[in-house]
Amino acid sequence: MAGYKLKVKKSYQSDCRLSTVDCRLKTNIIFAANPESMNYDNPRLIIDSSNPPEPDRITWRSPSNIAIIKYWGKYGNQLPRNPSLSLTLASSLTDMALEYSLKETPDNNINLDFFFHEEENEAFKAKIAVFLEKMTPLFPFLRQLDLTIHSGNSFPHSAGIASSASAMSALALCLCSLEDKLFGTLKDGDAFDQKASYVARLASGSACRSIFPYAAVWGEISSVPGSSNEYAVAAEDFLHPVFKNYHNDILIVSSEEKSVSSSAGHALMEGNPYAEARYAEARRNFDDLLLALKKGDLEAFGSIAEKEALSLHALMTASVPSYTLMQPGSLAIIEKIRAYREDTGHPICFTLDAGPNIHLLYPEDIIAEVRGFIEEELLEHCENRHMQQDWVGEGPEEL
Ligand code: DP6
Repeated sequence: MAGYKLKVKKSYQSDCRLSTVDCRLKTNIIFAANPESMNYDNPRLIIDSSNPPEPDRITWRSPSNIAIIKYWGKYGNQLPRNPSLSLTLASSLTDMALEYSLKETPDNNINLDFFFHEEENEAFKAKIAVFLEKMTPLFPFLRQLDLTIHSGNSFPHSAGIASSASAMSALALCLCSLEDKLFGTLKDGDAFDQKASYVARLASGSACRSIFPYAAVWGEISSVPGSSNEYAVAAEDFLHPVFKNYHNDILIVSSEEKSVSSSAGHALMEGNPYAEARYAEARRNFDDLLLALKKGDLEAFGSIAEKEALSLHALMTASVPSYTLMQPGSLAIIEKIRAYREDTGHPICFTLDAGPNIHLLYPEDIIAEVRGFIEEELLEHCENRHMQQDWVGEGPEEL
């Protein structure tokens, strides 16, 4: 999307509101965010109340992503036990508008109103307020503002599609745009993306990968120079063109809330007897996947994607206590996908995230046949025959 990179091309010189330092010191602030120190705390980001910003709003549209190599297991402050690789999606999106104005009476609180699909939502508001409070060392100006967030998804909230990646990446992008608008500190596009990904990770691990077009890697691994546990990096350059418009139709087997949240699932990896073997296997699968992505080897891609998805669900089964998120419909669909592939030779494959829904992955050139197969054989296993059509996309866009 053309708007994606436009965010770096504006001139912020006339909008510099640094109170304790002049505009020349903006360079220092950028260095404060250098990846070696990886400390984005910045007490200088305080609005000069004698030169208040006009009330305004920032809006981002950000997508969900589907991991092919799964992030499952974390330590410390949201750091992954193994590297993961995802495809950025195009139609499962969150639109988020962040409105701000300087508080009339200063106080130390986070002042937030939160609307989800134009209705006040206390549960989301509480969660976001806690996160913003945690972010105040990075964005101390948040305490100086009255904030209102309007958020909405392109898919029904109850569709069983995880919304944390799209929502939390949209929030991180809004926060970085706000910093940039007020202080001109993130003019460089790479610095902006890196900080947005870092902030998104702190809200929800998988969200850090949604910042980038087409594909992203999160987690340190020698085969991807510049990769980090602290933020994701773009992986577009690893993709053979066939993957740039790959399809990912989401077959909604159930839209019910999961019995065990992802956060609880990550935590259960700590006592899982297979954890160490899993982390080593993820690294091997990662390097095999990179080769398949570069070569456009659809068979290898499918075999790795399915191995990863089934390992993820096997780890849940092997957790103590054990739990299962797949449902009979998920298994019926998996069996039919295998049989269809065997019969037709078409390179379709599946993956799952932490839930019962099946993501059907296939290249653009067989879309007519695959959609027919879905209609005739798979929708009968879906709740209300519901499917969300999705495909690889160009990443977030400022609206
Ligand atoms: C199975 O990112 O939802 O989808 O960091 O606790 O918010 P938190 O977890 P989350 O975990 C996603 C797990 C996964 C695999 C993946 O997306 O890599």
